[in-house]
Amino acid sequence: MALLHILHYPDPRLRLISTPVVSVDDEIRQLLDDMLETMYAAPGIGLAAPQVNVTKRIIVVDTSPKGDDPRCLINPEIVSYDGVEVMEEGCLSVPGFHENVERAQQIKVRALGRDGEPFEMEVEGILAVCIQHETDHLDGKLFVDYLSEIKRNRIQKKMEKQRRFSM
Ligand code: NI
Repeated sequence: MALLHILHYPDPRLRLISTPVVSVDDEIRQLLDDMLETMYAAPGIGLAAPQVNVTKRIIVVDTSPKGDDPRCLINPEIVSYDGVEVMEEGCLSVPGFHENVERAQQIKVRALGRDGEPFEMEVEGILAVCIQHETDHLDGKLFVDYLSEIKRNRIQKKMEKQRRFSM
């Protein structure tokens, strides 16, 4: 297993559209393990492959209180949305910033698991919000895109300043 480097906003690579995984092989499973290790170490509750500079449609999430319920979603597709939920979100690619974002409260998502088998699940609350946030990453979208331009620009300026002072 290995810790992966997480790209930080406003890195343009976070804006790339990820491509679907064609076959779930050992290389993909290794990536899943490394992504989970990186997410837990951060610590975070979700991570998408493009955040670690891999433009494949893969996300990992664990919103359980104890962090013992890892879920891997390959080629996730949200097929239905229900209700409204406003939650304070952060992102491992935008460290230090948390803002309220409005999302669906309940979703139905289809994906392939780490065994390559398709599955479907209906989730709500924080897990639904987390899956929406991570799936956005696969289309180059970040939670800051839901904020006002003024807020987003302020975050971008602060992130750029941090980058100048970190090695
Ligand atoms: Ni994120």
